Amino acid sequence: MRLLKSSELRKLYLDFFREKGHAIIPSASLIPENDPTVLFTTAGMHPLVPYLMGAKHPEGTRLADVQKCIRTGDIDEVGDTSHCTFFEMLGNWSLGDYFKKESIAYSWEFLTSDKWLGIDKDKLYFTCFAGDADAPRDTYSHDRWVEMGVDPSHIFYLDKKHNWWGPAGITGPCGPDTEIFYDTGKPKCCPECNPSCDCGKYLEIWNNVFMEYNKADGSYLPLAQHNVDTGMGLDRTIATLQGVESVYDTDAFTGIIKTIEELSGKHYKDSPEITRAFRIVADHIRCATFILGDPRGVTPSNVDQGYILRRLIRRAIRFAMQLGIPDNKLDAVADAVIAQYGEVYPELTANREKIMTELDKEETRFQKALRNGTREFERIKGSFENGVIDGATAFHLYDTFGFPLELTEEMCEERGITVDKDGFEVAMEEQRERARAARSSDETAWAG
Ligand code: SER
Repeated sequence: MRLLKSSELRKLYLDFFREKGHAIIPSASLIPENDPTVLFTTAGMHPLVPYLMGAKHPEGTRLADVQKCIRTGDIDEVGDTSHCTFFEMLGNWSLGDYFKKESIAYSWEFLTSDKWLGIDKDKLYFTCFAGDADAPRDTYSHDRWVEMGVDPSHIFYLDKKHNWWGPAGITGPCGPDTEIFYDTGKPKCCPECNPSCDCGKYLEIWNNVFMEYNKADGSYLPLAQHNVDTGMGLDRTIATLQGVESVYDTDAFTGIIKTIEELSGKHYKDSPEITRAFRIVADHIRCATFILGDPRGVTPSNVDQGYILRRLIRRAIRFAMQLGIPDNKLDAVADAVIAQYGEVYPELTANREKIMTELDKEETRFQKALRNGTREFERIKGSFENGVIDGATAFHLYDTFGFPLELTEEMCEERGITVDKDGFEVAMEEQRERARAARSSDETAWAG
């Protein structure tokens, strides 16, 4: 198997599909156009939905791309080995052109041929859709893998939860998928251990979705055209193939981590807490840089994408403070992100000044909020009954003074006080509802 850098995988992937007659299209914006149901582009298929539904794409029926994506549902998990808020998805697309047979043959060739990735076929495992009342068992895909030379013991049938790609919204194109996993060589966690297991033995590297249905009104109707949507997460695949512990240990993050080391004077792997803080700063500033640098970029605010952006930047600042990074230095991390990605995403270089200015402004706002919040905390801390801060008060600190819950918790812990987190979440949800309803752009409160 070839040891690739992330830039090499990105290039090889596009070269391969260009050879197979695909037009290479640029990444769409991170901010979806004409889709109010989601804040960010969460998958490569997202910007292509109209074409999967039958509209004619100007570049034809075979496309390949590297799409910028953001998923913030697991933001609290960032800092472990696998979660990132921003990622790049390599994808090849058939818009009513080829279907399962060619899709599987292309994936097999790209992964196993020595001209391309040259992965040992015995290291690869596969899953196919088991079938249910909505759609039949995908024996066709199973048989194609066997035809490629896969031992049937490496193929598993799994249910809709695992082997179906559904629409991001309630309706839209969807279908069964076949997923490709890499065996890390770790021992099985149990006799039944298979690719659906999250013990870490099998890591998913590619997902081929066969979009032949349209989900509408809860039922699955056949689509007029059969599409292929594949997705390969660039960082995760590189981490898997390089055999490193996390995406942060791949070459994509080398410059970014080095910059954080220089700013903090600490070493990335000094302790589990330090490693986590490094990863959070690296991930959140990478994501914030891409949001600010996007052609449809937004600035920090209390609603929608601006709310997420604010949350990312402020969380990065909190962990930067923990690492002892001086104030207003995160622009150096953003510069490392631009150095790594500017060639592939020229919008980052073009919007460098905006990125730096907005990061700096948000940091200054946050420092002010922290000072005021600390003062308020000291003023009211004596009044907590039974050593518990009720949710409404914790939320008041957060909402009016921009005081993150984590910080309230830490300060309380030092004083033997606990925080009613459930009560805080209730108050937070009420505020989100109000914000959604009002679509206000008021900037006094801190979001996230
Ligand atoms: N839509 C699928 C995914 O995001 C394949 O691209 O995994």
